[in-house]
This record gives sequence, C-alpha cells and structure tokens, in this order.
Amino acid sequence: MNISSPLPVPTTEEHELSHKLVQQISKEIQQTTQQTIPFRRFMEMALYEPQLGYYVAGKHKLGHQGDFTTAPEISPLYSRCIAQQCQPILTELGNKSTDILEFGAGSGAMAAEILRYLDEQKMLPKQYLILEVSPDLIARQKQRFSHEIPNLVKHIQWITSLPKNFKGVILANEVLDAMPVDLFSIINNKVYEQHIGFDGTQLTVHDQPASNTLAAIIDDLSIKPHSNSYTSEINPMISPWLHAIAESLTQGIMILIDYGYTRQEYYHPDRNIGTLLCYYQHRAHGDFLYYPGLQDITANVDFTAVAEAADKVELTVLSFTSQATFLIANGLEQHLIQALEYEPNKHYQYAQQVRTLTLPAEMGEHFKVMIVGKKINEGLLSFTGVDSRHKL
Ligand SMILES: C[S@@+](CC[C@H](N)C(=O)[O-])C[C@H]1O[C@@H](n2cnc3c(N)ncnc32)[C@H](O)[C@@H]1O
Repeated sequence: MNISSPLPVPTTEEHELSHKLVQQISKEIQQTTQQTIPFRRFMEMALYEPQLGYYVAGKHKLGHQGDFTTAPEISPLYSRCIAQQCQPILTELGNKSTDILEFGAGSGAMAAEILRYLDEQKMLPKQYLILEVSPDLIARQKQRFSHEIPNLVKHIQWITSLPKNFKGVILANEVLDAMPVDLFSIINNKVYEQHIGFDGTQLTVHDQPASNTLAAIIDDLSIKPHSNSYTSEINPMISPWLHAIAESLTQGIMILIDYGYTRQEYYHPDRNIGTLLCYYQHRAHGDFLYYPGLQDITANVDFTAVAEAADKVELTVLSFTSQATFLIANGLEQHLIQALEYEPNKHYQYAQQVRTLTLPAEMGEHFKVMIVGKKINEGLLSFTGVDSRHKL
C-alpha cells in the first residue's frame, strides 16, 4: 500500500461522475435548514448513492485493477479456512437443511472458493445466499460464478433482505468497515460532530457542537485525549445491524472478519486522528473529500461495540481472535500443502499469500475474527482456547 506518493488523477469520465455526485450532495445540503449534513450521511452518499456512489457505480473496486485488495482476493487459501469452519456447523445442523448467507460478497471470490471446497467435502449447504447492496457487484459476482463454478450456480441465490428463521452460517468479510460512521472531534474538552457543507464551488468540512445523543455516547467512551484536538469515529449501524441479524437467526453462527481493535485500543489517547482512511488506486490517504464516488472511505471496527451489541440482542460471543490465529486453527497449513500438490510451480506465490494473510505487520494481527452465535456449542469452533474475548 502506497501512502505518501501523489494521488493519481482521474479520467475525464470519472471526473464527470464525481462532479454529478457532488452536485447531488450539495443539493441535499442546500435543502437542510443548517446548510450542512452529518459526515455519516456524506459517507453514505459517497459510497452508496444510487448510480453514483463508489460501491454502486461501475468502477473496478477490488483487486489489482481496483483501489484495494481484500483477503479473499489475495488467496483462495483464506476462503478454504473459512469454509473449514463452516463445515462442523453444517454437519451439526444437517447441511441439506442449512444455509450460508454472505453479506457484501464483493467480487464473489470467497463465495466461489467456499462452494468449491464444500462441494469437494460433499458438504454443500442447501443454499448459498448473498445479501449485497451494490447492483454493480452483483453483476460481477454473477459473471464470476457462471465462468468459474457453472455447476454450482444453482446453489446461489441473491436476496435483498434477511430471511425469516435463518439457520446456518452468516459471513461478513470487511462489511462493517464499509458502513457509514459518525466523525467527531474533542477540541479543548468540547465534543463536536463533523458536518459537510457546500461553499458554492466545493464541499467543505464543519465542526458543529455534537447532538446530545452523540455527546452522551462519546462521554460513555471515557476518552482522555493527550492533546487539545482528538478526532475519531463511531459506527451507529452496528447495533441495528446485529439486531436485524439476531431477529433472523434461529440457530447458527456469524463469522465477522475485519480490521479493528478492542475499544481500549481504538480510543487510545494517542490515536488522535482516528482510523478513517480513503483508498484510491491502492493509495491510502485521509482526504475524504477527494473525488467523492471514486474512492473507498472506510473506518476500523470497534469490536467491543460489536460484542456489546451482540450481547444486547442475545447473540453469544463465542470467540474473538486474530486473523492469523483463526487461519492457522482452520487448517491453513494443510490447505497450502494441498494447493501445492495441484500447483507445485506456484510455490512462491502461495508462500507470499500466506505471509500477507498471517504476518503481524501485514494482515495477521490487525484483522480480527469474531464469531457470535445462537444455540451453538462452542466445541464446534476450531479455535476455542486460543481466544482473546477477555480483552474486549
Ligand atoms: C470492502 S467490500 C468487501 C467485499 C468482500 N466481502 C471482500 O472481502 O472482498 C464491502 C462490501 O460490503 C457491501 N456492503 C456494505 N454495507 C452492506 C450492508 N449493509 N449489507 C450488505 N452488504 C453491504 C459492499 O457493497 C461491498 O460488497
């Protein structure tokens, strides 16, 4: 990931697309009484505004040609480890009557590999459901599946809302980090909420006194900044999202994988510029107003908030660990050996993939895996015992 070099300049076509989105955002701003919108709404429009938002418009987002790369794009071994954790749950609940549901399936890389693996194990679920908010990504997923796994396409179904009485495994890989967040600052002990305005030519950033609700939430975090200015984020979607999942799930688990921290680390006094980052053509930077609609905007996950929200809706937090620990416990080494039997000439590539997935300085430690569930015995998880729930 390149952090310091100048950002690439978009093409004329991309420039026009972003301009249209800015016009749309400024129209909404001008319709408000205070002439600003909360940052959260700006981020929602920048990522998901119909036809124009980053995840919705037709831009190549994931992989080498896109703006960022996720673990399923890096290596099929990753998805095989996830599939290995799905297997005992499918066996326990009866695979012929049990489903897998993936939120935000991106390019479809993980779904394709999980289905391949479960097919080899003769353990296919009844259905593989995909709940994806981006029509562009749905089209890419369909294209991939018909090309790569034509014999398994009949098991895949796209859904637009959570099903009633879901039984099985829910997967969310890098989904929480793509949800809109509230951006706040603590300046000289006063709490402000960042809003976006429009000065007639361009979007502008404004610190506004935080609403009582937001101020109370931030107060509860007991942040003790070391400097006069401290900025961070809160994801207000975590609670309603888990609430909806708990309503749908009758029995099974959800595997959540994302970059993030426990609350203590997230709101550490030294982390005074928060975790919000933008990705444009593999450049990471902090300018969230740079060509809205053309770049990803993302924030890390507060896993303590996820655990608290799960607890409130009676989902049990079954385990919490690093990505490296999870992958190793779910057969990474065996999956590597097996892959090399088929493709011995790809030794270097596979070794490189394993390093990226597991080394602490790469994805191994910063990415966490949390499993929550209902009516599931902890013994069905591969890594009980190597668990960091006590840190939450
Ligand atoms: C960073 S991408 C990750 C894609 C894929 N899971 C991967 O790891 O390669 C975020 C994905 O989450 C989807 N997404 C965001 N919010 C969502 C929601 N509330 N429900 C379902 N999908 C969502 C986006 O459309 C996108 O596919």
